[in-house]
Amino acid sequence: MKQRLLGNTLPVSAIAQGCMRLADAKETPDRVLGTALEYGINFFDHADIYGGGRCESVFGDWLAAHPSLREKIVIQTKCGICDGYYDFSKEHILSSVDASLRRLHTDYIDVLLLHRPDTLMEPQEVAEAFNTLERAGKVRFFGVSNHNPMQIELLKTAVLQPIVADQLQFSIPESGLMTSGLNVNMKNEESVMHDGSALEYLRLKGITLQAWSPFQGGFFRGPFIGDTERYPALNEALDKFAAQYGATPTAIAAAWVLRHPANIQLISGSVSPQRMKEIAAGADIELSRADWYAIYRAAGFRLP
Ligand SMILES: NC(=O)c1ccc[n+]([C@@H]2O[C@H](COP(=O)([O-])OP(=O)(O)OC[C@H]3O[C@@H](n4cnc5c(N)ncnc54)[C@H](OP(=O)(O)O)[C@@H]3O)[C@@H](O)[C@H]2O)c1
Repeated sequence: MKQRLLGNTLPVSAIAQGCMRLADAKETPDRVLGTALEYGINFFDHADIYGGGRCESVFGDWLAAHPSLREKIVIQTKCGICDGYYDFSKEHILSSVDASLRRLHTDYIDVLLLHRPDTLMEPQEVAEAFNTLERAGKVRFFGVSNHNPMQIELLKTAVLQPIVADQLQFSIPESGLMTSGLNVNMKNEESVMHDGSALEYLRLKGITLQAWSPFQGGFFRGPFIGDTERYPALNEALDKFAAQYGATPTAIAAAWVLRHPANIQLISGSVSPQRMKEIAAGADIELSRADWYAIYRAAGFRLP
């Protein structure tokens, strides 16, 4: 498995196991998490809210049964989303982490992300929370999710720890992070910048971009799309390149995300062992530049 240096600091697998669907998986946690380890995935992404806390609990029970694994894996979790509001207050961050630690059956979290920007955020309060967590040895590294560059800069006016990651939605059809950059100075819809040059900013700052929903929550046919036939040309292209590279379409879609030089970490959500194997195989495929662009165009994007 290819490696990434999270925030230019922490070695992690290029593919991470997202744990949002763990509590509802058909397979046992032992089978799902054991499969991830078998294919070289050492990074597990959580949030306090996944399954209302059940995903962390299921994972924690598995970890309690395999305590020797704790030092070999990287556990990331998130906080800040509440029922109907966002909360980056010191009190909430500290209590959320304590609850995650209890559920995960561990005394430290490797990476803590602020899940979604809280516009009522006070950088000083976040800084105090991070300092308290770091001093207590409860959190090793800090990052954000769904943040734009200015929001990260605002946090950094008080937060002293490096921001190691920003987790953002990114998949072939949901690739606005780079589409606006490909359409600079144009007046088409693709030129509209929705994220403040997050892709370029993260590369400049050495902050790892973590791609959530890299298969659009169901391989470009799923619930986020709502229309099974929305991307026939993309699926045809993935089938074609799968045959060409001797791989599965799933592996090609994973390889497409990993091919970008931003050193993206792919947060995969599949909890089906066969599919997890196919996704892991994508880390070994290096798409040519022309093929990479062909897949992008097959999702309906035009180059200016
Ligand atoms: N930061 C955020 O705001 C945020 C938001 C959402 C998610 N996340 C993180 O990102 C992770 C991944 O999100 P996700 O689960 O929505 O992403 P995903 O990997 O795009 O989607 C996985 C889902 O798609 C299904 N699927 C169907 N066909 C597939 C195929 N050919 N290849 C891969 N999956 C296929 C999977 O089913 P099977 O299980 O049967 O394979 C699974 O239900 C989550 O676990 C979570 O850790 C973060």
